[in-house]
Amino acid sequence: MIIVSVGGSVINPGEPDKKFLRELSRVFIRVHSKNPLAIVTGGGKPARAYAGAIRELGGSQFLADKAAILATRQNASLLIAALGKNAWPAVPKTFEEAALSASTGKIVVMGGTIPGITTDTDAALLAELLGAGRIVNISNVDGIYTADPRKDSSARKISKMKFQELSGLASKGDSRKPGENFVFDSFACKIIARSGIEAHFIGTSDIEAALLGKKHSGTVVCD
Ligand code: UTP
Repeated sequence: MIIVSVGGSVINPGEPDKKFLRELSRVFIRVHSKNPLAIVTGGGKPARAYAGAIRELGGSQFLADKAAILATRQNASLLIAALGKNAWPAVPKTFEEAALSASTGKIVVMGGTIPGITTDTDAALLAELLGAGRIVNISNVDGIYTADPRKDSSARKISKMKFQELSGLASKGDSRKPGENFVFDSFACKIIARSGIEAHFIGTSDIEAALLGKKHSGTVVCD
């Protein structure tokens, strides 16, 4: 079993990216026939828009997170639609529900679960529950860099690193605010480290290679 964490920004940069969703689902269907997949989708721009508006209106962080979770589930629905009959037809709301759905052999696609975390942590917890040995994280940053490549032109990509190094980078960049975080949540780092779940970070190319455990252009995090 492999868990795929798909960043909301690649599925829904503002509007659902239907072309990318179709391409992605073809790759997922091919890989799933050899090595089963379960997928977690992030919230992207809509999640940030709702959470931001709720905070500005005086709503609690809890309420903002609840609204953002709904956006992650809407993104899960997009992928379920693109996967057609290969997907379990509903978005599980809990990990246990996801595990039951995965036992049917269909591709399960879920979004967020509880306030206070992000879908990186959901992906890590789902990997623990399903006994997955690998998480593949697809986002608009094609790997782990020494600094934020969107802000620092001297940042360079790291091809391989240890769990501890990832945790160090993640806790430095963890503001607990949507859209401002490091590429992987610091809770998620702790979970993959405690269970020895290998994590692969890639952009939108090389997805199939990363899923099949072949060499790719992103970053591999292991022990
Ligand atoms: P994401 O996982 O997409 O968060 O969940 P993110 O890392 O902040 O987003 P990007 O990658 O930068 O675009 C979106 C938001 O949904 C809520 C959080 O508010 C999170 O920031 N969320 C998600 C939860 O509260 N619980 C969850 O289990 C998942």
